[in-house]
Amino acid sequence: MRLLLAPMQDVTDLAFMRTLQRINSLPDAFITAYFRSTPTTCALAEHNLRCIDENETGVPVLAQLAGSDAPALLRDAAMLLARPGVAGINLNAGCPSPLVNRHGAGAGLLRDLPRFAEIAWELRRALPAGQFSIKCRLGWEHAETEFPRILEILAAAAPDEVGIHARTRRQLYGGFPDFSYVQHAVATLTCPVLANGDISTPAQAAACLQATGAAGLLIGRGAVRNPYLFRQLRGGPAPTLEEMRQYYSILVEETGRILLHKRTEKGHCNRMKKYLAFCYPDFSPEAEYQLRRCTSIPEMLRILEHGAA
Ligand SMILES: Cc1cc2nc3c(=O)[nH]c(=O)nc-3n(C[C@H](O)[C@H](O)[C@H](O)COP(=O)(O)O)c2cc1C
Repeated sequence: MRLLLAPMQDVTDLAFMRTLQRINSLPDAFITAYFRSTPTTCALAEHNLRCIDENETGVPVLAQLAGSDAPALLRDAAMLLARPGVAGINLNAGCPSPLVNRHGAGAGLLRDLPRFAEIAWELRRALPAGQFSIKCRLGWEHAETEFPRILEILAAAAPDEVGIHARTRRQLYGGFPDFSYVQHAVATLTCPVLANGDISTPAQAAACLQATGAAGLLIGRGAVRNPYLFRQLRGGPAPTLEEMRQYYSILVEETGRILLHKRTEKGHCNRMKKYLAFCYPDFSPEAEYQLRRCTSIPEMLRILEHGAA
């Protein structure tokens, strides 16, 4: 079973990657959060580049591109692949942000399927074997009518791997993922298919793999709340309370490390809150309240260790 950390802008960053390494619970590959690719700019976001250039985990990194202009995507894919730390390019056809979709990028590609087909095909033609994957949703609005055509496009473009977040753009992150479409993709495509959406326990992972026949899983929010999930999915134990405490304190340390000279107390706390947003269900309402308002790292560490005051 192949396990990938799903990309999450400002969350699955270098600090989080290093934290997974330190707790010895690593996926088979990382996917960076998306680099925005437009005809007018070829600037690659510095914080995402650090996930590539400073990755010392030994785990391959796939660089993700979000765009809707084939020449710009080809240009940026070549630029990224020229960096020694990039193991492949992942095309983002799933991001639901209105800002990104307005320009036809992310899940916006699923609203313009001829363009999606052209881009997927152009990237396939340009990128070496083994270095092109796609992450997509089930469609823009209606999976039942849109997903069959998306599958045709994927089959024609023949990427090396496909990750499917089993929701439409219209669902955003609500409702339930429908893994029956992933099962259909597994039966149709020749490349490995990875299932994505709401996997946060070994039982959910097993049920999803059993139902879909997928080659593996892409896991995002579940891995931020329980970073030991990769270890568990390889047969290791569930985390102890002490290990969860260690996780939070390592994450605080690694987040401080990536902020370097830009680190301010408040800025550091705000960065931590990006991860903690997915961990609050494990805290009491009082502790969550205090964490959300916290502006001091020693105080944050105290709440993370002992709960609310
Ligand atoms: C805060 C946040 C940021 C995200 N950023 C990206 C991104 O940069 N690229 C992408 O393809 N998906 C992005 N996603 C979607 C996730 O990769 C994933 O598909 C989604 O969260 C469902 O998987 P999960 O339930 O395992 O989290 C993001 C999701 C969240 C919550």
